[in-house]
Amino acid sequence: MQKVKKILCIQPFDKAVVATVTVPGDKSITHRAFLMGAMACGGSGVTRVHTPLLSGDTMSTIVALQQLGVQIKEQSGVWEVWGHLGLIGKSGLHPKEMTLNANNSGTTTRLLLGVLAGAGMKGRVTILGDASLCKRPMARIVEPLKIMGAEIVYCKQEGVLPLCIRGATLQGIRYQLPQASAQVKSGLLLAGLNAMGSTVLGGEITSRNHTEILMRQMGADIAVSEEQIVLRPSVLCGTSVQVVGDVSSAAFWMVLAALCPHSKIKLPGICCNPTRTGILSIFDRCGVQYGVKNLCTDAETVGDIEVEYVQDLKPFCISEQDVPSLIDELPILCVLACFCKDTSCIGGIKELLYKESNRITNIVNNLKQMGANIVAQEEQIVVVGDGVLQGGASLDCLGDHRIVMALAIAALASKQGAVFEKEHDIQSVAISYPNFFAEIENLRKTK
Ligand code: S3P
Repeated sequence: MQKVKKILCIQPFDKAVVATVTVPGDKSITHRAFLMGAMACGGSGVTRVHTPLLSGDTMSTIVALQQLGVQIKEQSGVWEVWGHLGLIGKSGLHPKEMTLNANNSGTTTRLLLGVLAGAGMKGRVTILGDASLCKRPMARIVEPLKIMGAEIVYCKQEGVLPLCIRGATLQGIRYQLPQASAQVKSGLLLAGLNAMGSTVLGGEITSRNHTEILMRQMGADIAVSEEQIVLRPSVLCGTSVQVVGDVSSAAFWMVLAALCPHSKIKLPGICCNPTRTGILSIFDRCGVQYGVKNLCTDAETVGDIEVEYVQDLKPFCISEQDVPSLIDELPILCVLACFCKDTSCIGGIKELLYKESNRITNIVNNLKQMGANIVAQEEQIVVVGDGVLQGGASLDCLGDHRIVMALAIAALASKQGAVFEKEHDIQSVAISYPNFFAEIENLRKTK
């Protein structure tokens, strides 16, 4: 039988979108809730995770933990995690020889390495990933973990997956982070929980701080200042985590509302942790109309975000200091720039080279196909917008979920829409937002 090629045509919206969209739970917080819940043998030893994100990436973390023997069960919508990994060394529970597949998830890989490095297991764990993850740099986490005493070897090629890790006795580290990577920072902090002596991190520490917040909530001895993070070895206690809505998923609807005439989209219960909401300061620069209501802080800060259409958006610049708080929103901000009148400069974006794809060339090539005047110049993207985007293109996003979703929004706001021709692009949204295309269809039906 002939295989029917699946393609997805996104037609532009021909009417205003006035709606409330409930976005799924935050991906970063979900990973951390399960990983740290798995380490928490203090207190009741049980962590209850409410409204987690269940997606490709977070399932990679959950399945890996289950393979390591961690009990994770869902009961009436609440996910219970029995702390177990914190006990491995002491109780003699340990895998002998095991392979874990992190699939597409950099967060699973880098944080799990931190968890396993100091877990005192006797066996050896191999970590694999898909083709995209196997190209991403691992030395940034492996090298400092090795300085702490971790036993890690690359299986095939220096600096990338697959790699093997054994349990070891770790020493705390004094380390200056060379890039603002929350994954590296978190991996080192998770290792530091089980190390001897303090772990002191300086340098580029102003990335998302969900690990620091949850560690404090779970009773760790951690002190954070502008210059450094000091963590003393600690036993985590079981806790209850309410996973708030993911601002990186909300960002797609925020930009859609800003671009579609007479639209207004409300997004309740979104993570408004300031280490994540850099997109709002870009909205201030280009004149997007938005409001944040009902802000409330209980461990994480949550609020309701509302964005509405405005005519004549101003061009904007993004510089290196802006990047950590909007790193995952850069593709959708490139889309926004296409609709601003005049020249926007998106700089300080070297880290985009190391994401699920080379996001600089990926977003630039596809937006060019859609008629944008956009170029990549070394580590910046320059967009000369003229208030509209032609569309009418066939796209290839190399299976990168955030590029696919950003371009789907571009298609909805364009004159002629766009076509996703690659099945792995269409399926990639399940990495972080399984319901994304269904939500577009819901919005099409709203009056
Ligand atoms: C994440 C950190 C960021 C981000 C990723 C999630 C995390 O990566 O891009 O989507 O949960 O810690 P880097 O640490 O590589 O910047």
